[in-house]
Amino acid sequence: MIKFSLIKILVIFLSFFIFSQAHSAEKNELLKVEWSFKGLTGKFDRPSLQRGFQVYKEVCSSCHSMQYLSYRNLGEPGGPEFSIDEVKAIAASIEVEDGPDSQGEMFTRPGKPSDKFKSPYPNINASIAANGGAYPPDMSVLVKARPGGSNYIYSVLMGYEDPPEGMKLDDGVYYNKYMVGNKIKMSSPLSEGIVEYSDGTEASMDQMAKDVTTFLSWAAEPELEQRHKTGFKVMIYLILLSVLVYLSMKRIWLRIDSEE
Ligand code: HEC
Repeated sequence: MIKFSLIKILVIFLSFFIFSQAHSAEKNELLKVEWSFKGLTGKFDRPSLQRGFQVYKEVCSSCHSMQYLSYRNLGEPGGPEFSIDEVKAIAASIEVEDGPDSQGEMFTRPGKPSDKFKSPYPNINASIAANGGAYPPDMSVLVKARPGGSNYIYSVLMGYEDPPEGMKLDDGVYYNKYMVGNKIKMSSPLSEGIVEYSDGTEASMDQMAKDVTTFLSWAAEPELEQRHKTGFKVMIYLILLSVLVYLSMKRIWLRIDSEE
């Protein structure tokens, strides 16, 4: 006779859970941060998302595009949640090309919330030519595209060091502990105080690296909070269901057990 105890069911549950956690754990030695958005009930830190957008806008956006984002995304639930007026102001501060008008001419106008983020270069070749032969990758989904995700981005930003003795670097190539081959064609984009946070937070390297990584993590996975909420409900539901199944199984076998 197959007899499942509640303990066994719980063990199966837990092992699934631990396996899925272990699966997502990184195996390399990247710097590790306790991100608020990891884990079963993780949420993005709103002020950090807003500061991270500021870092992207003022620093990274001169080289890296984020072509899948629209300004209105910045006001949507689960994201930085800027107010409607703030989103309008952010969009309007950017000049976008539009057209053709009735004369067949292209023209520029202030951005609207429905516009996509403006790219710094007209195309990939232009971005490579302007960056010494290296392509500054689009950042819309970069966090998802790299093993190590958020920790990788954070590590690259914090990983600039003097090259070890004897290592010769060409012009425009920098030593970075966490890049493949330890060489990167991007000079350290962050430096102490390069932005002045509007919320008064001190703009240390570490703070900016965390904030911009948080922002990029949201951009790559805007549905994360919703997914966590659903996942949590599903877990509760499954636990209740297994308790019910266990209890009814006990009841069904009750007579047979006692007849034995
Ligand atoms: C002056 C232009 C420039 C600026 C500004 C800049 N980057 Fe870069 N970035 C590049 C280039 C070019 C590369 C490609 C380097 C390579 O492949 O060697 C790159 C690569 C990267 C990579 C590594 C991507 C990979 O392929 O694994 C990360 C992460 C990154 N940038 C993040 C940032 C962040 C965050 C900011 C803003 C704080 C920023 N960058 C600002 C030019 C720039």
